[in-house]
Amino acid sequence: MDILNLIIAAIWFILPAYFANASPVVFGKISKGKWPIDFNKKFKDGQPILGRGKTWPGFFGGLLVGTVIGALQGVLLIGFLLSLGALLGDLVKSFFKRRLKVARGKSLPLADQLDFIIGALLLVSIVQVPSWEIIITLLILTPLIHLGANTTAYLLKLKKEWY
Ligand code: CTP
Ligand code: MG
Repeated sequence: MDILNLIIAAIWFILPAYFANASPVVFGKISKGKWPIDFNKKFKDGQPILGRGKTWPGFFGGLLVGTVIGALQGVLLIGFLLSLGALLGDLVKSFFKRRLKVARGKSLPLADQLDFIIGALLLVSIVQVPSWEIIITLLILTPLIHLGANTTAYLLKLKKEWY
């Protein structure tokens, strides 16, 4: 498989996870950050368990959108598992960010970009383990796409940070 085909195959495979990871921003905005998953509770270190950036509407909205994308691709179960894995990966990441005292919304490079990919790949492996070529491609490509998108948003003045 040449490199371009590999990139296309990798993105097509992971597409539900990309949607599940991106759409909570919209749902979080609509619900104005209400209904936090951790019910605003603190962990024993005094920091939020997950923080205000993780909400129930974001979680279920992302799960729905990602699963619908999978259904449209003709892979309902895979779409559901990729989406659920992506959202759980994001929550696990936020839990560790708070333990490291990284404030909600502040960046933790690589963790912020790979959390959802790793979660998605782990959960989807219940029914289908993607080829190692696909896995490597996604681990390299995703941070680059992330950075490209954020830099574009910064240049368009939609975002305050370039990363
Ligand atoms: N979001 C949400 N529910 C989720 C995930 C995300 O409502 N389960 C929304 C929140 O409004 C969040 C935004 O999407 O602020 C961006 O998501 P993300 O970058 O994952 O969260 P951060 O605010 O950066 O928080 P953290 O530092 O915990 O990653
Ligand atoms: Mg963030």
